Amino acid sequence: MTAVLINGKEIAAKKRIEIAEKVKDLKKKGVTPGLAVILVGNNDASRTYVRNKEKTCQELGMNSLLIELDEDVAEDKLLDKILELNNDPAIHGILVQLPLPNHIKESKVIETISPLKDVDGFHPINIGRMMTGQDAFLPCTPYGIMVLLEETGINIEGKHVVVVGRSNIVGKPVGQLFLNQNATVTYCHSRTKDLKLHTKQADIVVAAVGIANFITADHIKEGAVVIDVGINRNEAGKLCGDVKFDEVSEKAGYITPVPKGVGPMTITMLMYNTLKSASQSLDR
Ligand code: GUN
Repeated sequence: MTAVLINGKEIAAKKRIEIAEKVKDLKKKGVTPGLAVILVGNNDASRTYVRNKEKTCQELGMNSLLIELDEDVAEDKLLDKILELNNDPAIHGILVQLPLPNHIKESKVIETISPLKDVDGFHPINIGRMMTGQDAFLPCTPYGIMVLLEETGINIEGKHVVVVGRSNIVGKPVGQLFLNQNATVTYCHSRTKDLKLHTKQADIVVAAVGIANFITADHIKEGAVVIDVGINRNEAGKLCGDVKFDEVSEKAGYITPVPKGVGPMTITMLMYNTLKSASQSLDR
């Protein structure tokens, strides 16, 4: 392997120590950060993610509250629960695990969460604030990617970043964060005509498509930085990213592995956002 491995697990661990210290300081002022997580239904992957969020809260000295609702819960009941949490002073962050069952309108749920407690950074107010370069809760996976690059000492200004994937959770916001740091950004997606034409020009490629081993060595310029957001299973059931790691790591300059790359940063930034919300609650 020629590429330098960007070790997300190590960087996340370092950030978590810093967060835990700040949680201690805040507790001395009488505030314990509290995160409420709402899980609707029985999606196994969602349950695992939610459990990890609760565990990390405990590790960092924060309170966590898990609210489990049945798959067939009425939308109004979920919205009422969110309104209750919006008014609960012990709760500083509210996260509704996605995806939601089809009968519930995702945008309605997201817009019901108070922007002041929107630690996912999904509320249109936070997205708008992020787009206009104002202080905002930043979505956790894109934010985690920016921290990985910063901690690795990779300069972004003037770089050509190609984002592959345009989801609301990762692709769209990560491109915006790069733009905010003066990168030139290209978005590619399932309708892009010649994907390789674009990715081969990139100084930094972010792969966020959700297809195992989709990005191969011939998509990548020699020495490029490759960020793999994918969490997929290959035919053998093994966890793998969107990037064909074995061959791309021979050509790239830097690469994130899967697991232990971007993944550990997502929960870390969720904890950071919850801490930030709790700190801000002192000023109100
Ligand atoms: N489902 C997959 N990723 C996320 C996330 O970052 N936040 C929420 N709420 N749901 C998700």
